Amino acid sequence: MQQNVSKRPYNHCRYAGNNGDVWKHVLLIEVLRHLAPLRHKAFHYVETHAGPGYSRLGENGDWKRGIGRFMNGTAKLIDHPYFALALPAMIENFLYKGSWVLAAEFLRNIGHMNFNLSVHEINADTLKMAGSAIRKGQLSTWVRLEPKSGYDALHRMEQADFVLIDPPYRSSDGSADDWDKVMNAVTKAKTLGGRWMVWYPIFRREEPDTLINMSGGTSFELTWAQDAPGWVMKGCGMLADGETAELLKYQPGMLKNLAEALGGEMAIRSATTEAKSPEHVSAAHHRAGGNLGDAEFLSKPVHLPQ
Ligand SMILES: C[S@@+](CC[C@H](N)C(=O)[O-])C[C@H]1O[C@@H](n2cnc3c(N)ncnc32)[C@H](O)[C@@H]1O
Repeated sequence: MQQNVSKRPYNHCRYAGNNGDVWKHVLLIEVLRHLAPLRHKAFHYVETHAGPGYSRLGENGDWKRGIGRFMNGTAKLIDHPYFALALPAMIENFLYKGSWVLAAEFLRNIGHMNFNLSVHEINADTLKMAGSAIRKGQLSTWVRLEPKSGYDALHRMEQADFVLIDPPYRSSDGSADDWDKVMNAVTKAKTLGGRWMVWYPIFRREEPDTLINMSGGTSFELTWAQDAPGWVMKGCGMLADGETAELLKYQPGMLKNLAEALGGEMAIRSATTEAKSPEHVSAAHHRAGGNLGDAEFLSKPVHLPQ
């Protein structure tokens, strides 16, 4: 999971199955699992940033520190439905399933009566891969792949039951603009009447803290030791709206075990102040040169009972 500062287009296959992906995907399936009792209600799932759906893993790669840790089937959490969805394709074909493939297969497997997914992607090669993933998984009944910006599509949307925002972020060298776009996307997602989650990388505390505080949500972070040269990313987080976060807070043991199995630690962070508009927070962020020292915006970690 090296910092991506190159000008090459983001290619999720390079990172697929790493510990950040596993954290994101287990939490995603865990949330859908809690919503499963509503399986008779229409459910519209949206992803702003789809990725390829399936990624072929190289012989070596970051996946070894992620899904690779679970391939011998011995980890404590192995009975979680995420593993039943992800491991067979890994073991048989060295393919790692992406978020919307996992979500669609989960909803189909539990016999959800009325769900559909709108997933958005702008990279031409990734769109081709996502099209193949839909055919391979026979998911065309449920998944609509939109070749357009997920940010633009979200801003035109009027309803969604669940939104996952998972952009590339690209770099922490100041050139990335996804943090501001994500804050605007969260503001919009909050108007759609459903739940939302955002995945983010942790390079410095400032960007996630600004995002958490403007969102008013709660984040579940995985941080890991800097145990290899070139690993500048310190961890990642899944930020969720309040109701979704409550579902996850009932699983402290599961989250803690998962974090440990991934070689890291879990922290839960929530906003310290009332929710702020992205314009307010973004302006403050830029005034501070992207380096917020303002305690007003710092989120606080929350410790759960064991
Ligand atoms: C982190 S990957 C998504 C991974 C996927 N959600 C998963 O967990 O399997 C981000 C993807 O967003 C795509 N992308 C970048 N900007 C985009 C935009 N404005 N709208 C839609 N997709 C975009 C990239 O091409 C890349 O495939």
